[in-house]
Amino acid sequence: MSVFNEGDLALLIDSKGRQYLVSLKKDATFSFHKGNVQFNDIIGKNDGAKVFSSMGERLYVFKPTLEEYILKMKRGAQIIYPKDISRIITLMDIFPGAKVFEAGTGSGALTLYLLRAVGETGKVISYEKRKDFYEIAKKNIEIFMKNKNTGELVLQNKDIADGIEDKDFDRAILDLTEPWLFLDKVVDALKPGGLLGCYLTTVLQIYNLMEEFEKNFYEKLYKVGIFELLERKWEKDGLSLRPALRMVAHTGFIVVFRKLA
Ligand SMILES: C[S@@+](CC[C@H](N)C(=O)[O-])C[C@H]1O[C@@H](n2cnc3c(N)ncnc32)[C@H](O)[C@@H]1O
Repeated sequence: MSVFNEGDLALLIDSKGRQYLVSLKKDATFSFHKGNVQFNDIIGKNDGAKVFSSMGERLYVFKPTLEEYILKMKRGAQIIYPKDISRIITLMDIFPGAKVFEAGTGSGALTLYLLRAVGETGKVISYEKRKDFYEIAKKNIEIFMKNKNTGELVLQNKDIADGIEDKDFDRAILDLTEPWLFLDKVVDALKPGGLLGCYLTTVLQIYNLMEEFEKNFYEKLYKVGIFELLERKWEKDGLSLRPALRMVAHTGFIVVFRKLA
């Protein structure tokens, strides 16, 4: 599995740390500002190989991690950043074998991590109302999950406003603008004790969600909490060891509830 085969994804990293994601094809070439790289030089080599471009640039070649892949894959809607996804997976206690509902699918970033976390015995049902985003997500997921064993995925081009067909979900995650409009549908679809997570990007959305919870759902849901995650990268350059000058300062908030019996 550590050897590159034709059709595999490969992440090329140049001497400046710039990353290029490619799909390996026999006799094909990747061209960039530092020359060409022959894919035949990569196919058959081990993960972590070193190759050189036609202009002598050294590149390291790795099989992309899921994080590297989602940051490079095609986007329809804005993705949830990996730092937030990692916290969602733990806060929402996504476990092997879980049955998870998600809306909207967006570009499929969270869906990919959910599929991984539920394992081969789990199931993810994801709704996306926009046909163009649904198509992008479907392709993104197919590309990364090719030849990998995953749980069952039911991806639907569907608006959650029209209802959730299935029931008895262990977990449900809403990443859409107005989750408070769909609390009744999601609560009905969850198992007692099941967890509901809402990913929101502004405080006004949190306010609206909490107002709806306090007015109409306080007997059906228990509020676990409202969370924000900040991540700061550090860099070492010679004697200088300090936080990176640029950071993704704001992404979003995660609001978690549990369904009462
Ligand atoms: C921010 S994106 C989701 C990104 C996704 N979590 C990811 O990581 O790639 C929000 C998506 O929700 C979809 N959406 C909004 N309202 C919806 C609804 N009522 N039913 C289904 N999908 C909806 C939008 O079309 C959009 O693609």
